[in-house]
Amino acid sequence: MCGIVGYVGQRPVQNLLLHGLQQLEYRGYDSAGVSVLSDGDIRSVRAVGKLQNLVDAVEERQPAVATIERPATTGIGHTRWATHGRVNEENAHPHFDTADSVHVVVNGIVENYLALKNRLQDMGAEFTSETDAEVIAHLIAHHLATGDLVEAVRLAYNDLEGHFSFVAMHKDEPELLVGARLECPLIVGVGDGERFLASAVPAFLEHTNRVQFVENGELVAIRPDSTTFMLPDGTPVEREETQLDWDQETAQKGGFETFMLKEIHEQPDAIAETIADRTVRETGVDFGGEFDEDILRNAKRIVIVACGTSYHAGLIGRYAMTEWARMPVAVDIASEYRYSNPVVGPGDVVIGITQSGETADTLAAMRLAQEQGATVLAVTNIMGSQATRDSDGVVYTRAGLEVGVAATKTFICQVAVMYLLALRLAELRGTLEPERLASLVGQLKQLPSTLSELIERLDGAEGQSTGIADKHGRDNFFLFLGRHVGLPVALEGALKLKEISYIPSDAYAAGEMKHGPIALLDEKTPVIVCATDSPVLDKVVSNMQEVRARGAHVIAVATEGNLDIGEHAEEVIRVPKTDWMLQPILAIVPLQMIAYAIARSRGLDIDQPRNLAKTVTVE
Ligand code: G6P
Repeated sequence: MCGIVGYVGQRPVQNLLLHGLQQLEYRGYDSAGVSVLSDGDIRSVRAVGKLQNLVDAVEERQPAVATIERPATTGIGHTRWATHGRVNEENAHPHFDTADSVHVVVNGIVENYLALKNRLQDMGAEFTSETDAEVIAHLIAHHLATGDLVEAVRLAYNDLEGHFSFVAMHKDEPELLVGARLECPLIVGVGDGERFLASAVPAFLEHTNRVQFVENGELVAIRPDSTTFMLPDGTPVEREETQLDWDQETAQKGGFETFMLKEIHEQPDAIAETIADRTVRETGVDFGGEFDEDILRNAKRIVIVACGTSYHAGLIGRYAMTEWARMPVAVDIASEYRYSNPVVGPGDVVIGITQSGETADTLAAMRLAQEQGATVLAVTNIMGSQATRDSDGVVYTRAGLEVGVAATKTFICQVAVMYLLALRLAELRGTLEPERLASLVGQLKQLPSTLSELIERLDGAEGQSTGIADKHGRDNFFLFLGRHVGLPVALEGALKLKEISYIPSDAYAAGEMKHGPIALLDEKTPVIVCATDSPVLDKVVSNMQEVRARGAHVIAVATEGNLDIGEHAEEVIRVPKTDWMLQPILAIVPLQMIAYAIARSRGLDIDQPRNLAKTVTVE
């Protein structure tokens, strides 16, 4: 978490940094800060809360900055998601050493900071924050006694333990920033006569799409006309440039009131992109050599590891792979899996699903499995992310950049990739009749247009989700129920509601409700049930009756044409018909929109809900 950005070049740096931070705010928004360097002088502004507070603070102090003869062209910025130390200005980055000559911005955690801090304090360092990150500034300052900034950062890096990336600047070294990476991402943006160094590409995408990835365990020095990579022992490393095909448009709201709403509307295009060339053959799925298919061919068992929304996509993957490919599949939350001493090894294919490709727990689970001899496949949305390096093969979700903290389009694209993998596995294992395979591929290809109609129908002030928000937006608890693939839909629907509306909600396997959650129901409780057509629909309907017998209010998501459902629910939201296994891609949309409409009716910050971050690089 946390977003860092740095710049060296010819242009005034202050606004470049603030714009860069704006694009990184999804990584954390507890506080923010910038430090700029001009004529041997570093000026720093930090502010608690959203980035706008920093922008205002910079504006207020503008007279001071304006007295600088030449505007600064070297600087660093940071947006924080607090781990060590409260949310206050002292704990905001950039942090600095006692002499105020070294400034650093840090993403991640320094695990041995206490020992280092004690040592440095004994040597006279004066700390001004409660953070682990500040130790890096003092450590670099300490090593400056024996070398220049690049050497001092290298020596400091070798003293540090944890998982982090950071960028440092020194008041006597204009036109130089030095960064280091251990786990947390760091990417160089290459321009003409200028360089950026940031946690993620959107920070500089407006200016360049030419990038160089800093690999795990590497250091980098950027100057306006050069980038130098090296290993912690000082050995230089050559690194190619990559040109990304992203554009800045995607990072803007495009007329929608929030990124989340824009991204909900982008779902038809996103899924079309994800399945496009992979479904050109009518009777099967082609990954066109994207990864070595022997990985699937030789799989004896699949283990899916993921966190949050990605975990819910994994649950749907399990049902599809089990049903279509008759494959033993386990799914686990990555933070549980990595500490469970799992039985895993050769013959197992471990699929790590991670939108960002950066989630610390998912990466650790993937690495653990790989170390024990399993083959690892990454399903991610981000080119060049760490997951792509820590795996034996990669399948991209191609959802495009997602900025809203609550995942929407990346979720349905992950689910689509699960279907594609399940169908390919079924084809390789000969477990589905060719006609059934062809019918499923055909129905998958229909989803972009059916999704589009569904979103149009549900959207807007007159839409059903707004009606539900009007009626239930002030309720203090929601229960979500589902069975089979309807269960992950319920889990994801409840997660969306929690994330953006802060209404307590629970999601349960409908058949399990009577073993506990039924005690929560009273006459006011809204119960949202995923009741789309499936072989277990009758069972779901029985559970709906149990709910209604307690007087609670059932809102059912049901398949168009199934008129009977209306008998068992106070309200029915219809989704188009498709194969029952594919229904989650449609059924999740009304739940995203209900959560959205409720959060909106409560006047909440939908794109940046409290306490959350889009990318979680701490365990
Ligand atoms: C955070 C995000 C979620 C996401 C989860 C896993 O909690 O807010 O939207 O599902 O991390 O992220 P990943 O990038 O690994 O899919």
